[in-house]
Amino acid sequence: MADMETMVQARSNVVEQVEIVGGEKLQGVISVSGAKNAVLKLMAASLLSNSQCLIRNVPRIRDVDTMLGVLRSIGVEIDWADEHSLLIRVDNYLNDTASDDLVRQMRASAQVMGPLLTRIGRVKLFQPGGCVIGQRPLDLHLKGFQAMGASILEEHGYIILEARRKLRGAEILLDFPSVGATENIMAAAILAEGVTVIRNAAKEPEIIEEQNFYNRLGAKIRGAGTDTIRIEGVTSLNDRMIDYTVIPDRIEAGTFMIAAAITGGEVEIANVIPEHIEALISKLKEVGIDVDVREDSVLVKSKGRFRGADVMVLPYPGFPTDLQPQITALLAIADSTSVITENVFGSRFRYVDELIRMGASIRVESRSAIVKGNAKLSGAPVYAPDLRAGASLVIAGLAAEGKTIIEGVQFLERGYERLELKLANLGADIKKTITVSSI
Ligand code: UD1
Repeated sequence: MADMETMVQARSNVVEQVEIVGGEKLQGVISVSGAKNAVLKLMAASLLSNSQCLIRNVPRIRDVDTMLGVLRSIGVEIDWADEHSLLIRVDNYLNDTASDDLVRQMRASAQVMGPLLTRIGRVKLFQPGGCVIGQRPLDLHLKGFQAMGASILEEHGYIILEARRKLRGAEILLDFPSVGATENIMAAAILAEGVTVIRNAAKEPEIIEEQNFYNRLGAKIRGAGTDTIRIEGVTSLNDRMIDYTVIPDRIEAGTFMIAAAITGGEVEIANVIPEHIEALISKLKEVGIDVDVREDSVLVKSKGRFRGADVMVLPYPGFPTDLQPQITALLAIADSTSVITENVFGSRFRYVDELIRMGASIRVESRSAIVKGNAKLSGAPVYAPDLRAGASLVIAGLAAEGKTIIEGVQFLERGYERLELKLANLGADIKKTITVSSI
């Protein structure tokens, strides 16, 4: 039987697509899932636990499944306790390496380095992969580990870290406020000897989540959310079980806000922390879209007509790089020209050709996209080259005349929980199709 199945699989080609017929105004209330970029890091952070961690509000997305596999391959016991909660148990013995196959699929795998290095003193990790959105080096992470006394060897595609003696606290000034480097250095410093100070640290809300999580485990960290983080090394962490609820996903929230805006809809986006999306709220207001900010929700009211505006993508609290492709789709139909400048990732405009295929008028010059506006979008077959680019194409499809067929659905599913279902509940004409053909 198994052989038969393998034979059928070997001769068939599975194509997953998202089909959208544009033109429906989105309406209603939508609830945002837990934050992908927080939960993946908290899962890695649990490598420092001596007991059990229950993490709640975990989105059911592919990246979470990948991190689950990465942690299992290191030797962590991890299972779903319910639909959106993970129960994690860390035994004394942990491997110093993780599955190469899984690590190469996801950039966030690199976040196991800091916890493992400080806990077991050695890590051998395949160079992590992930969405192709520009150069994503790890030099700042590695320089931080080195300053704390770790030795680093990069060979045959692996990064090998070793701390022959206990890591030592250090003063580390980051050349760029990298989220990943801040998190990894923070983790490595927890069990180091003495105090570590990270300057020019990233200030993203996800960093505050990690500080809170680690402090619940018994770490002594303060300053997250500012550009200086101080970690006082401790000799051991406590063995209390922790129960932690992840913050809502600010990027998912932003994606729905932009989707509501482009369709001329009226949508309440519930379960959000409005201060996490301030940069987007003020940009939408600037172009003339009505955003009513409430305690834990935002109401977006759009007439479907708005002005262009310039967008400068910057580290938090600036406009997030993870919403850059989505706002570009919106500004493609604005009444005037916009210039979008990407200051975080070098090659994050690969999706622009697909928007052009749908009728947008956009010219990319170095780190900027000049979006002419006034486009009359029309549905077309397009390919999502990465996660947020996929969201941008969905947004364009919602406003386009006729049918848009998006391939590369696997990217969308890395980071959005049931996106098509949530949008359909707001009235979008959208569905996922799976075609199995013989080859
Ligand atoms: C980035 C985003 C983060 C988002 C995440 C997932 C920023 C600042 N970071 O985090 O908000 O949640 O993607 O999509 O917006 N860099 C180096 N050397 C390093 C590390 C980074 O040069 O060792 C550079 C990168 O090439 C990039 C910039 O720093 O240009 C930001 O990278 P970083 O914040 O580390 O990326 P992520 O942690 O993936």
